[in-house]
Amino acid sequence: MLELKNLVFEVPVEGGVSETKRIIDDLSLTIEDGRFTVITGPNGGGKSTLAKLIMGIEQPTSGSIVFNGQDITHASITERAKLGIGYGFQQPARFKGMKVKKLLELAAGKRLPALECNEYLAKVGLCSAAYLTREVDKSLSGGEVKRIEIATMLARDPKMAIYDEPEAGIDLWSFDRLTETFRDIHETRDDRSIVIISHQERIIQLADDIVCLRDGRIQDMGPREEILPKLGFTDRGFHGCQLTQPTELHLTEISTNC
Ligand SMILES: Nc1ncnc2c1ncn2[C@@H]1O[C@H](COP(=O)(O)OP(=O)(O)O)[C@@H](O)[C@H]1O
Ligand SMILES: [Mg+2]
Repeated sequence: MLELKNLVFEVPVEGGVSETKRIIDDLSLTIEDGRFTVITGPNGGGKSTLAKLIMGIEQPTSGSIVFNGQDITHASITERAKLGIGYGFQQPARFKGMKVKKLLELAAGKRLPALECNEYLAKVGLCSAAYLTREVDKSLSGGEVKRIEIATMLARDPKMAIYDEPEAGIDLWSFDRLTETFRDIHETRDDRSIVIISHQERIIQLADDIVCLRDGRIQDMGPREEILPKLGFTDRGFHGCQLTQPTELHLTEISTNC
């Protein structure tokens, strides 16, 4: 179980002497084990920042983070990773000189047979064994790097996996494969928690719980059935809205006026 208690994250205002801006504003949230949680909301609402606070990439100004009963507010990224928290960045890094297979093995913490590596890649829609020997450098497209990072998360298999806009830059076919993968993990691994930051209807439809974040605060949260109608759901689907960054997807996206 992950418990966020009165979490605040402030940054200095550029040019201001002692002024600060609140990015996360007194946020409290509990995520039970085995739940599939989608965090959605308008761009700039603090979703990625919240994920970075949970992973320890940013340190909160105040408040606390407790994971399975252990206070991890000041724990390092490595400690949190060891405890079973994983984070897939909105914009993943490239690793020049690092082959895809090696990256998957580092994530898994052990040598992996090529067959298993291929299975992880297939789950994110990368279906060529040739990827294993590719370097995770500029020769890969943004969507490929994104999917390789998601594959490393699958290889790592953390207790709580946080994915930041996994849909960004991914083609429709790979997106189908990816949503199936998320659904499969959720249905078969009830000891695993999935947290996905997303604007996509198809991902939101998989959620047990939806959290709507705006201006660093939880505007609404609850079971999917309760929150979905508030997100602009109509008989004909969701209303369109702007994604954070251009994507190859042409699926309907939700309005995040929750
Ligand atoms: N370290 C930081 N310094 C200054 N501003 C930041 C920092 N981190 C985030 N922000 C700002 O906080 C707001 C929320 O950002 P973010 O968490 O990326 O939103 P979202 O992921 O919901 O789109 C944005 O306005 C962003 O520019
Ligand atoms: Mg973001």
